[in-house]
Amino acid sequence: MKPKYIVAGNWKLNKGPAEARSFSEGLSKHLGNAPVKNVDIIIAPPFVSLSALKADGFFIGAQDVYWEDKGAFTGEVSAAMLKELGAAYCIVGHSERRMYFHETDRTVNLKTAALLKNRIRPIVCVGERSEERKAGQMYNVVRFQLSAALFDVQIENPDDLAVAYEPVWAIGTGNVATPQQAEDMHEIIRQSLEKRFGIDIAGKIRILYGGSVNDANIAGLIDKEQINGALIGGVSLDLDKFLSIINSISQRER
Ligand code: 13P
Repeated sequence: MKPKYIVAGNWKLNKGPAEARSFSEGLSKHLGNAPVKNVDIIIAPPFVSLSALKADGFFIGAQDVYWEDKGAFTGEVSAAMLKELGAAYCIVGHSERRMYFHETDRTVNLKTAALLKNRIRPIVCVGERSEERKAGQMYNVVRFQLSAALFDVQIENPDDLAVAYEPVWAIGTGNVATPQQAEDMHEIIRQSLEKRFGIDIAGKIRILYGGSVNDANIAGLIDKEQINGALIGGVSLDLDKFLSIINSISQRER
């Protein structure tokens, strides 16, 4: 059986608790307060809005985590704390964190391990920059990011982990990867996962595409065999468009 798709909204620095609460109520109402059969829906709001989500029919996600359990780490949030707030998933290694907050492959690895230890599913983000693609280096860059993020990481179940391919040049630019560009990279990611976890598990790990996904381009992307869902930024802030993406994916057979 094929794994369920994932549709995840990464709200980034948008929607405080009040807005998050009303969005989540609207989303749950449209979902009939029940999960969609073949799609896991995730909303990842800012930390302060996590507890405002009323998650009926979707999962709560976080956008980042710190790897230590507790201690003198001003401003940080641990995986156990996220768990207490109901987080089932957590994004790690987003390119905005790598770019603006000095995230490294090593810290992505520490965060991934801390999440798994606390039974939160990491969504590990990888993706090349425009100049790396122009230089033909994109597959090497992504292979390296992935192997560094997963160094020493063990999983028991394919659902424990998701990978998001987010080419940096496609994020927030309207410049979506073509379905074939995404599919080719997803194939590379799948092969790396197979080497790491074996064919049975790797075949069922969800690999998401992210970068300027919208309600118009989702159909072409999701048609591809290796694309198991989407990580959506800007468009996930709009309930109608987010629902329309969920609808177009949920109509597909799995
Ligand atoms: P956009 O959908 O706004 O391009 O952002 C993608 C993203 O960064 C999701 O994590």
